[in-house]
Amino acid sequence: MTLKQLSVASECAPFVKTGGLADVVGALGPVLATHGIESRVLLPLYRQIAHLAKGGRVILDAGSLFGGPVRVLSKRAGGIDLLLIDAPHLYDRPGQIYLNEGGVDWVDNHLRFGLLGWLGAEIARSGIAGWQPDVIHAHDWQAGLTPVYARQRGGAVPCVLTIHNIAFQGNFPATTMGALDLDPKGFTQDGYEYFGQIGFLKGGLMQADRITTVSPTYARELMTPEFGMGLEGVLAARKSDLTGILNGIDTKVWDPATDPALAQSYTSRTLAKKTVNKQAVLDRFGLGRDTRAPLFSVISRLSEQKGLDLALEALPAVLDKGARFVLLGSGAAELEHGFNELAARFPGLVGVEIGFDEDLAHLIQAGADATLVPSRFEPCGLTQLCAMRYGTLPIVSVTGGLADTVIDANEAALAAGCATGFQFAPTSAAKLGDALDRAMSLFADVKAWQKVQRNAMKHPVGWGRSAQRLADIYRDLAER
Ligand code: ADP
Ligand code: GLC
Repeated sequence: MTLKQLSVASECAPFVKTGGLADVVGALGPVLATHGIESRVLLPLYRQIAHLAKGGRVILDAGSLFGGPVRVLSKRAGGIDLLLIDAPHLYDRPGQIYLNEGGVDWVDNHLRFGLLGWLGAEIARSGIAGWQPDVIHAHDWQAGLTPVYARQRGGAVPCVLTIHNIAFQGNFPATTMGALDLDPKGFTQDGYEYFGQIGFLKGGLMQADRITTVSPTYARELMTPEFGMGLEGVLAARKSDLTGILNGIDTKVWDPATDPALAQSYTSRTLAKKTVNKQAVLDRFGLGRDTRAPLFSVISRLSEQKGLDLALEALPAVLDKGARFVLLGSGAAELEHGFNELAARFPGLVGVEIGFDEDLAHLIQAGADATLVPSRFEPCGLTQLCAMRYGTLPIVSVTGGLADTVIDANEAALAAGCATGFQFAPTSAAKLGDALDRAMSLFADVKAWQKVQRNAMKHPVGWGRSAQRLADIYRDLAER
């Protein structure tokens, strides 16, 4: 039997993306289709994706909601069935999707994402243009109120809520309750109240039928004060409904044999050709022609979470030994500044590009020898998965999904022939430095390095097993 699923989310690749959430939401539909699940994505029609409205069909005129006229358009694009929320008063504006032009959260983000959840619940209850979902899948705090509204309106469609990153919780003043059309009876500890505020994620976690997060290790970590960021008690109380399911990547988008962003395609059998991409990266950053020197890389949001201040501390030692390093990323001003300074201090060895550039990310994944992901916490992480697929060895801290996806090149794993990268713990500059040294040594042994590259390229980084697990959860809920 075909099961109908509605994803409710604030991002969806390739249309609108600030991080891995978008990749996951965008990949799920086509992946679930192979498991007999028909999927649609409810997404705000931001100005950034206004072009998607062209050729879209208005399938719901919801009248005035949250301060202005709201319609829903249906549009199929890039193999994804989108339900676009056309609410110009909330989404048709400059700046970024969460931040205004000054880089500050939009003051009405509660309304912008409250409406997302409100409509998700409305579609759960009444369907849309004759299409009635069997299960709702809400993602992160932006969609957190979906199960809250669904309960409030007595909806019977089950709801899964996925935590992609608990650092973002969506807490707003209690005075916004009326504007959000929330039932005051729900403003309790068992409901959406969170330390006197309205908690979008908190409310969702209390009301969802099942909770998932994006790796088994992060699921365990979330129940501890160190990682739960205040919500550890809520999650511990819902332990029996909480499952960690690893993310995959879209192995069609990330395929070194066909990727149009590369200077040269390659496979695990033609690894030598990877060097052409390495030279292209060195050229792009003005780092010379020595492809025998190891090239380390970082592609990342620059935030406290990612531990890149530790990379700033650890990198000079390997640069002194002749390694090269390139970074693509943007975010915290002090980190942007720090990496620009590193480039100034090591001219010809370090290249830095501040910004977001999908094609360059692909080229760097193909051209680098190893990539650093020294995160303080990492719910899943996708960059290490992309890296492995491209034969670029990940150097990762042992946390969240990084712990669950990389096999450390220790003596045992090397002897067994199963290593796929390097892990270090605890998350410190010194331990990262040790891991960089280990990578330098292994790199000097061409045969051994290539063996690990081939292992990494063979490692299953797609959605296979995880899609099955998600499908099982949907069916279990829908059959109840
Ligand atoms: P997070 O979602 O926490 O940022 P993930 O590793 O799950 O981390 O996903 C990050 C995604 O964003 C990956 O697809 C990565 O390639 C991409 N990415 C991050 N920074 C950049 C950038 N500056 N330019 C292009 N892509 C980027
Ligand atoms: C979040 C997490 C990241 C995860 C992504 C997709 O942005 O920080 O670890 O891979 O969501 O689930």
